Amino acid sequence: MIDTKKIKEEVIEKIKNVTDLKTLYDIRVKYIGKKGIISELVSNLGKLSIEEKKQYGPIINTLKQEVTRIFDDKNKEIELNILNEKLKNEKIDISLPSTKIPMGTPNILEKLIEEVEELLISLGYDVVDGPEVEEDKYNFEMLNIPKGHPARDAQDTFYIKGEEILLRSQTSPVQVRTMLACRGEKPVRMICPGKTYRRDDDDATHSHQFMQIEGLLVDKDISLSDLKGTIDIIVKKLFGENIETRFRPSYYQFTEPSVEVDISCFNCKGSGCHICKHTGWITVAGAGVVHPNVLRMCGYDPKAWSGFAFGFGAERLAMLKYGIDDLRVFYNTDLRESAIFDRKESE
Ligand code: DAH
Repeated sequence: MIDTKKIKEEVIEKIKNVTDLKTLYDIRVKYIGKKGIISELVSNLGKLSIEEKKQYGPIINTLKQEVTRIFDDKNKEIELNILNEKLKNEKIDISLPSTKIPMGTPNILEKLIEEVEELLISLGYDVVDGPEVEEDKYNFEMLNIPKGHPARDAQDTFYIKGEEILLRSQTSPVQVRTMLACRGEKPVRMICPGKTYRRDDDDATHSHQFMQIEGLLVDKDISLSDLKGTIDIIVKKLFGENIETRFRPSYYQFTEPSVEVDISCFNCKGSGCHICKHTGWITVAGAGVVHPNVLRMCGYDPKAWSGFAFGFGAERLAMLKYGIDDLRVFYNTDLRESAIFDRKESE
């Protein structure tokens, strides 16, 4: 006669104080493992007569099910205890500083250019490109700066081949190329951010390579006030709504009248500081109404068409916007540059 009650109690007694899964598993194997006590009973059933099978079969099977459940429950209990113990011991110190994951940030000069591009695209401008290795014809002649003109001296140019092929000293030749492409037939709205080159000694505010953002609009009845409005929008977008613009008379061969664009100093609000050299104003661009000679040379009839143009110094804008005092920061791999950007962005 099998005393199932006794076996069950034996199991319960044996596992009562068990606290680890390995010991529990070993006991489990002893009872319901392949060759365990209860498994033996199950296989011995085969040797019994039908009558005996009918009598003991259900008893043994129930025993096996119940003992299995006892082991399963105990297993869960131990697992839970282990987990609780772990949670108790592995307290997370949330005051510990986290691991810093280094992240890339956009180059701040590129970022600034993108900002200007986005704004001007929303005003209907196209962003265009032009060659950096340029012909004298586009860089100077068709901008109303003939050979031998003293205005050329101001732009110490890198000549590549004789006097005809050079590294563009300004992005203004892209104005010429764009107008020529439009054949004097349709209005033009373009900006061209791009690299320019001059034989300058490199220091904190000069570089032999720098970027300009050129803009040109040609249409019917365009005047200086259209230029003023456009410049004002750009400046306010970059430096804030309270920034004022001032236009001083200037001289460029390819514009008439020509102006120098100043913005009110965002730092001292006009009272005078080191950024504005105590004048309250900062120069950010050259601009003007497109000279009739330029329109004519580029295929536009100055009697029917008029336009304005402007040229910003991109590094200068970025230096002002991000408070950088050395232009070389944009062209070396000094990671503090992205730190400046991170800081300004989160302000
Ligand atoms: N190209 C000029 C320079 O490099 C800047 C400039 C002045 C561009 C007036 C213009 C303009 O488009 O209208 O100094």
